[in-house]
Amino acid sequence: MSAYDELQTELKAAPQTWLVTGVAGFIGSNLLEALLKLDQRVVGLDNFATGKHKNLEQVKELVAPAQWTRFRFLEGDISDLAACQRACAGVDLVLHEAALGSVPFSMKDPLASHRSNVTGFLNMLLAARDAKVKRFVYASSSAIYGDDPGLPKVEEKIGRPLSPYAATKAINEVYANAFACAYGLPSMGLRYFNVFGPRQDPEGAYAAVIPLWIAALLRRQPIFINGDGETSRDFCFVANVVQANLLAATTANAGAVNQAYNVALGHRTTLNELFHSLQSTLRKRDPALPEQKPVYRDFRSGDVRHSLADISKAQRLFGFAPSHSIAAGLEVAMDWYRQNVG
Ligand SMILES: NC(=O)c1ccc[n+]([C@@H]2O[C@H](COP(=O)([O-])OP(=O)(O)OC[C@H]3O[C@@H](n4cnc5c(N)ncnc54)[C@H](O)[C@@H]3O)[C@@H](O)[C@H]2O)c1
Repeated sequence: MSAYDELQTELKAAPQTWLVTGVAGFIGSNLLEALLKLDQRVVGLDNFATGKHKNLEQVKELVAPAQWTRFRFLEGDISDLAACQRACAGVDLVLHEAALGSVPFSMKDPLASHRSNVTGFLNMLLAARDAKVKRFVYASSSAIYGDDPGLPKVEEKIGRPLSPYAATKAINEVYANAFACAYGLPSMGLRYFNVFGPRQDPEGAYAAVIPLWIAALLRRQPIFINGDGETSRDFCFVANVVQANLLAATTANAGAVNQAYNVALGHRTTLNELFHSLQSTLRKRDPALPEQKPVYRDFRSGDVRHSLADISKAQRLFGFAPSHSIAAGLEVAMDWYRQNVG
């Protein structure tokens, strides 16, 4: 039995109260779905900056009516301390996902990025400290590896941040460590690599590559690759991220707390490989889709060339064992996009 299987059994037997911030977003709504399916009590906080009401409605459809009654939603902004305090009241464990997650957006509006990602983060730390939560797990990012050229990325060696977004996530880790030292707030930082899965938004200027390309293929629109397509990323299906959050929030290993962890698959996929695998997976389902060739254009400034995580620290310290390969995750994601992209 894996650590995650054991944990799920334990949680069902002894439900906890969780706060998920950013609950109407991609990762937040997947956390909500998993927690409700385990009969947990969940408080959700979101201001719908990028999150969607329809993500919450979908989760409602996917869980039992009795499970949905264990969810309490608060609309609010984490840059408002009082909203964070209301959300943290009576909560055992916090999964803090709310942030403005786009690198290009942060280049355009670093102040807005700072307000949600740094001021909002500090408000959440204060509220969690005062509510005496058992653990504060938060979304950090692979972006904090910045200009460090080393591969695979190991937690101890980060570079200089290449964008305001990366700076906000690096500051989060500094603040979380300071709150551990100054006030004894137990926290765990999860450095997500490129996450994908159901409910990741395919629309808008800041869409991530997998939803963007799946939507374009389904709509028979051209696919653009920035650069030569040999840029690579460590793509990680969202179920693996959910697993990492639940394990990090509950691990009994005291030595694991107050640290940051890579959360990824530990495999590198080039954009060319990704394109071919998306196209072939989709055309298996719908042979009428035309076979496309991607259009190559200039590299995008600020993009790192390669990204690959060493995930052995999370494996060793809290039993992280990704359940989904990229191919398995894409199968699930494709079905969702086929049903939800017009
Ligand atoms: N998706 C990825 O590949 C990835 C990679 C690394 C890190 N992350 C981090 O994971 C977290 C979740 O990302 P996601 O992909 O689900 O993005 P998302 O945009 O789908 O979700 C973020 C949610 O936070 C909410 N939010 C933003 N600012 C807020 C504020 N001031 N107050 C309250 N709610 C606010 C949004 O409305 C949205 O629902 C973010 O912290 C992001 O930086 C994501």
